[in-house]
Amino acid sequence: MFMLRVYSLPIILLNLVVAVFCADKYSREDFPPGFVFGSGTSAYQVEGAASEDGRSPSIWDTFSHEGKMDGETGDVSVDEYHKYKEDVKLMVETGLEAYRFSISWPRLIPNGRGPVNPKAVRYYNSLINELISHGIQPHVTIYHYDHPQALEDEYGGWLSRKIVKDFTAFADVCFREFGDRVLYWTTLNEPNVFPLFSYDVGMLPPNRCSFPFGLNCSQGNSTSEPYLVAHHLLLAHASAVRLYRKKYQSKQLGFVGINLYAFATYPLTNSTEDVLATQRANDYFVGLIANPVVFGSYPDIVKKNAGSRLPTFTNQEYKQVKGSFDFLGINHYMSIHVKDNSASLKSEYRDFLADMAVEMIADIDSSKYEFPIQPSGMQASLEYFKQAYGNPPIYIHENGQRTRRTSSLEDTSRVKYMHGYIGSVLDAIRNGSNTRGYFTWSFLDVFELLGGYEPCFGLYYVDINDPQLKRHAKLSAHWYSQFLKGRPVSSDSDGLIKLGKDFSLLSRRS
Ligand SMILES: *[C@@H]1O[C@H](CO)[C@@H](O)[C@H](O)[C@H]1NC(C)=O
Ligand SMILES: *[C@@H]1O[C@H](CO)[C@@H](O)[C@H](O)[C@H]1NC(C)=O
Ligand SMILES: *[C@@H]1O[C@H](CO)[C@@H](O)[C@H](O)[C@H]1NC(C)=O
Ligand SMILES: *[C@@H]1O[C@H](CO)[C@@H](O)[C@H](O)[C@H]1NC(C)=O
Repeated sequence: MFMLRVYSLPIILLNLVVAVFCADKYSREDFPPGFVFGSGTSAYQVEGAASEDGRSPSIWDTFSHEGKMDGETGDVSVDEYHKYKEDVKLMVETGLEAYRFSISWPRLIPNGRGPVNPKAVRYYNSLINELISHGIQPHVTIYHYDHPQALEDEYGGWLSRKIVKDFTAFADVCFREFGDRVLYWTTLNEPNVFPLFSYDVGMLPPNRCSFPFGLNCSQGNSTSEPYLVAHHLLLAHASAVRLYRKKYQSKQLGFVGINLYAFATYPLTNSTEDVLATQRANDYFVGLIANPVVFGSYPDIVKKNAGSRLPTFTNQEYKQVKGSFDFLGINHYMSIHVKDNSASLKSEYRDFLADMAVEMIADIDSSKYEFPIQPSGMQASLEYFKQAYGNPPIYIHENGQRTRRTSSLEDTSRVKYMHGYIGSVLDAIRNGSNTRGYFTWSFLDVFELLGGYEPCFGLYYVDINDPQLKRHAKLSAHWYSQFLKGRPVSSDSDGLIKLGKDFSLLSRRS
């Protein structure tokens, strides 16, 4: 979860976005058969046990140990590595139908390639079996920002084409060891954010950028590396999908997809410039990955503005990349307004952001830590995928409200947020969107990749200073549980007061 060049806008604009109808009273059974509700986490963010049982460092361990997260690390985090049974028990109590988690590459294959770590295989088998024996579907992300530092040191990680082979071998181990029970595979988490944040702006590991772009990195090239990395991500994804289809899919009968971060985008004004800029932002941000996997080529505007810095697909690669998904995963949190910034194209020496040539203005209220609640942005995002990409099957992999870590369990803003956004998913489905599932981010308060332990998105609070790392249900866990168990939900104040009373009775009992 992240935010880009943030400005706040007059409240008037917010109201424009919010004042659209959203389903308010609804229940679990209003969703189509087969629709699945869950919650998620990722390996580095929850597992802890960073140097146990043969795990080697990932680029995130390096980054956090260099003090880049104000001294915070995922060394212990909320210790799901040891507490997975307790966590699955909470999932059962909550009524989760699915759990989204990722596999740590440096745990499974500590050197990045070569020998598989049997203790890691045992851990993920135990987690998967625990989930399945309780009727919870595992939805597994293969790569969530955390490749082995060994590969970064050896050949520059995603900067090298060599990673395609190593990633495919890593995915092969995942399919082979776990694919008899895991039916939903996502190759990559947010490959549309990683090139920008890690290789243009340089704020996330491996922390690369070049002057005058980005944030004072010691190495990198913001003008060319983001495109190179996006290209290698696409080739690695397509190669893993090809392998799954050839070797596993007909026996294992699962599905494989890719995940994207998606804002809902609105032009700042109705000027032609801002309307075009909004399409350009979508093409650059979502289309960079979605166009190749759906149509087999990069968006025209990306080709034009990046020129020779954008690698091209050979004929054979084109065939592998095109259609390389059974579903798309979407991470949606917020809406933005887009303002034209074509002036940046006048400069000959440009980074990825200057090529995009827009200002992205987050619709946030800077006096509040919580995200604004703009549920119609969810439907708008889903509509965009429906119309621009031929209505592919979609899983909403992440959606959730940010609060500061606090022992107060009454996270009313998260309840309101979830209520609104899940209602908006229902609106989108009723208008024809092929959405198949919804996962809140996050199941527990985790180590956030932007902001460490301060920002929280969890249904369960964890006090990281408590040596037991006990989990505590928040009001939102209670609300989601009520919804998942079939109780009708509404967001009016009577509903919330009733929910709060039931919750405090429950909390006192436990
Ligand atoms: C940039 O990084 C260098 C080396 O890490 C450091 O000495 C310098 O203070 C940094 N400059 C700024 C403006 O952060
Ligand atoms: C970045 O890469 C481009 C294209 O390969 C090259 O022209 C430019 O000199 C490089 N810039 C830096 C700072 O290395
Ligand atoms: C743009 O035009 C649409 C349709 O006429 C209108 O609903 C919307 O409010 C306008 N937006 C702005 C920012 O003026
Ligand atoms: C509903 O779907 C139709 C047809 O795809 C589309 O034109 C319309 O904009 C959608 N409505 C909303 C509110 O997204």
